[in-house]
Order: sequence, then C-alpha cells, then structure tokens
Amino acid sequence: MYLLIPAAGMGRRMGSDRNKLLLTLLEKPLLAWTLLAAEASRHIQWIGIVGQPEDWPDFKEIIASVSLTKPVELIQGGSTRQESVYNGLQALPPEADRVLIHDGARCLATPELLDRCAEALLECSGLIAAIPVKDTIKVVEPQTHWINSTPERQFLWAAQTPQGFDVAQLKQCHETGRSQGWEVTDDAALFEKCNLPVRIVPGEETNLKVTTPVDLAIAEFILRQRLSSSIP
Ligand code: CTP
Ligand code: MG
Repeated sequence: MYLLIPAAGMGRRMGSDRNKLLLTLLEKPLLAWTLLAAEASRHIQWIGIVGQPEDWPDFKEIIASVSLTKPVELIQGGSTRQESVYNGLQALPPEADRVLIHDGARCLATPELLDRCAEALLECSGLIAAIPVKDTIKVVEPQTHWINSTPERQFLWAAQTPQGFDVAQLKQCHETGRSQGWEVTDDAALFEKCNLPVRIVPGEETNLKVTTPVDLAIAEFILRQRLSSSIP
C-alpha cells in the first residue's frame, strides 16, 4: 500500500514561526511520530512526504533519525492541502492503484489504524477514518451568529485521516475539482462531489490533528500514557 503524507502546511493556528510538524513532541519532531507509525504498519510499502522545499533538509534529518527501512520520497507541496495532495498523486509510482493519505499533523494515529484502513481499501474504492461526534453541532448564520438548525448527532461523524482511494478515481476527482474551482478540506469531499461512494472505517479518539498549542499539550499527555503503559 502506498502512503502520501501531506506535510506542507504553515501551522498558522499553532502560532509558531515554522511548520508545526517540525515542533518537538516528547523529544521527537511531530513528523517523526507519524513516520514511526507508517514504518510499523504491516501494509505500507512506500511513503511520499509532501512538503515545502525549505523544510526538506529538516525532513531528511527526521527520516534519518527514525531509521526508516521503507522507500521514502519527498514531493513538493502546494499552497493548499488540496494542491499538496494533487502533487503527491502525480508523484506516485505508476504501479500504485490504491493510496492512503494521512496528514502529517495526525501524529498519534496507530499502525493498527493504518493497517485497518489499508485492509478495508482492498474491498472498496473510497474510505475515511472517522469517529462519532461527541458534541452537539449547531449550524450557525455566519454574519449574525443566530442558530439555524441542530443536525441529529447520530448522523454526524468527525472525519480523520487516513483516507484511502482508488488512485485513478481520485486523480480524476482532483482534475474535475480543479476545472470546477472546488475548494475542499479533504479528499473524501472531492469523491462525494463526484458522486462516488466513500465509507467510514472506525477511527481513533486519540487520533487528533495537532492544530493549536492545546492540541500539542494533549498529544504529549496521550503519548506519555501510551509509552508508560507499554513498559512491562
Ligand atoms: N498541508 C499541506 N499543504 C498545505 C497545507 C496543509 O500538505 N498547503 C498539510 C499540513 O502539513 C497538515 C495537513 O495538511 O499535515 C492538515 O492541515 P492543517 O492541520 O490545516 O495544517 P496547517 O495548514 O499547517 O495548519 P494551519 O491551517 O493552522 O496553517
Ligand atoms: Mg491548514
């Protein structure tokens, strides 16, 4: 299974002056934790990291520091996540017919989750990891902040990554999206807009996307728990 890791963001909401994936989480850069999960996955056989060239020297150091045995390629990022994934798709080896896309910022995803998605992707052409939402979600009028409606929670799932797709279909969806000017925040949305089916694979509550400084603190807490409980 081929894995693309979008890692070309600016981390604006983190408020740091560099890519948040280079920030340290328990003595390792965020991206190192994501790569360790990919390395430990039984199904991932190739890793493409999509990043801005100014970060590549740091990425190369991280790759060396985690002693990856799987082939890794650095791919030039775009100005949006959508563009970064597009570039990643173009850089896949020609024999890649299925791809998992996993945000570098979801550095707590377990190898088991990657493998669950990889296995499910043998049976379908579009999937995402997701979990049921815990909060009640309100649809709000953007200008006035009056509530419009309250969707029933039983129908609401919070999308995570990995997201997995048939490569030819996803490439086609990206081309359609570019020509139609669609702007989406994940690849499943492109699939949906093209009327292609996407199924849910159970995600992980701890698979948070490190976005703000609070997320970084929570991620550190979760990792500490995980590491201490794995000590016999
Ligand atoms: N990403 C990317 N290319 C971009 C923007 C984002 O590859 N042009 C990646 C990020 O590196 C991250 C993932 O997409 O791993 C999810 O994006 P997000 O959490 O929004 O990260 P940033 O865009 O870096 O953060 P922010 O939106 O706060 O600037
Ligand atoms: Mg972003």
